[in-house]
Amino acid sequence: MTNREESVRTKANQVLVETWNLCKSYPMRSRFLTRVVGWVKAVDNVSLTIRRGETLGLVGESGCGKTTLGHCILQLIPATSGKVFFEGVDITALDKTELRRMRKDMQIIFQDPYSSLNPRMTVGGMLREVLHFHNIVDRSRMKDKVDELLKTVGLSPSHAYRYPHEFSGGQRQRIGIARALALEPKFIVCDEPISALDVSIQSQILNLLQQLQEQYQLTYLFIAHDLAVVEHISNRVAVMYLGRIVEIADYRQIYENPLHPYTLALMSAVPIPDPKAKRDRIVLPGEVPDPTRAPSGCAFHPRCPEAMPECSSVSPVLREHDDGHKVSCLKYSTSWPEQSGVSTVVPAETITASPTQGGALADD
Ligand SMILES: Nc1ncnc2c1ncn2[C@@H]1O[C@H](COP(=O)(O)OP(=O)(O)OP(=O)(O)O)[C@@H](O)[C@H]1O
Ligand code: SF4
Ligand SMILES: [Mg+2]
Repeated sequence: MTNREESVRTKANQVLVETWNLCKSYPMRSRFLTRVVGWVKAVDNVSLTIRRGETLGLVGESGCGKTTLGHCILQLIPATSGKVFFEGVDITALDKTELRRMRKDMQIIFQDPYSSLNPRMTVGGMLREVLHFHNIVDRSRMKDKVDELLKTVGLSPSHAYRYPHEFSGGQRQRIGIARALALEPKFIVCDEPISALDVSIQSQILNLLQQLQEQYQLTYLFIAHDLAVVEHISNRVAVMYLGRIVEIADYRQIYENPLHPYTLALMSAVPIPDPKAKRDRIVLPGEVPDPTRAPSGCAFHPRCPEAMPECSSVSPVLREHDDGHKVSCLKYSTSWPEQSGVSTVVPAETITASPTQGGALADD
């Protein structure tokens, strides 16, 4: 059994984060910002669970809503509708003080650490500010804690006196990780944490994230474009298209037996290490549709190589096809809206009567 299987097995069937029908729409305004002329459905009815100790990879083309979903889960932006549960608590219903307390447990690592670091503060100053604001350690232990954090992410205590511009990209990402770790979180949204880095540095940061996950029993939502990276780090993978999850499964199922035509196309672009092995690349026609005017029926139908006549009028539902492997495609009878009698208002990964309260998974 590999380390990543073991780490999840030990805490199997526990849910840390759960979303119910999460939606986020942004208003599109007229040229002079006076009128709302449309809505971008950046996140459209997403219901999923993230298990304690796992890494859930989230993939999809640019603009499909990955960052928006991560931010809504963390309550960095308010959802338009739907709910987010953290350890069974509905965090969409918390007031500011309660949310601030809860936020300690849920952190984010950004793609571009430089833009998220204050250029006028030393690294030590930044870390001290976070530690002080959330009352993590008292003044007498502050220096020790900052030194410890810097060492944990592979930097030296002397780096505490430097400013962000004095660091390389990889070192800045380590500072971003230290800042997230300062609050001793349980859950971290890693939003493309390595895509802005040199290839030579990427694996170092990935290894660091994996090592920290083991050390601190962290749970990650790992957002990325690079499917090879997602395969390397994830326990399960969710595939997103135009604001919806279209497939979610164990990483092996997604990579070895993808079901959704969109996932198949994404996978066909992943290089195979064996030079003798061949894989036919599926090139999707056209661009991702304008999110203000999502196509009817299955939103993927204008680009789908396997589209059927019904696909332009019937919206598929994300449901289990096989052993925890969920897909939303009319090729599979389970995805037809009328199959289970469940309302299509809940095209959910998980449909439960109550939050799972950190207990058994509703979808297990
Ligand atoms: N503040 C905003 N106002 C209006 N539209 C927004 C806003 N933020 C995001 N969007 C739109 O919402 C959709 C989803 O954006 P989001 O940044 O979540 O996508 P993404 O999958 O993270 O893309 P990328 O891979 O490029 O980071 C896009 O169409 C984007 O233009
Ligand atoms: S529902 Fe139809 S259009 Fe959508 S992915 Fe499946 S086959 Fe393609
Ligand atoms: Mg993004």
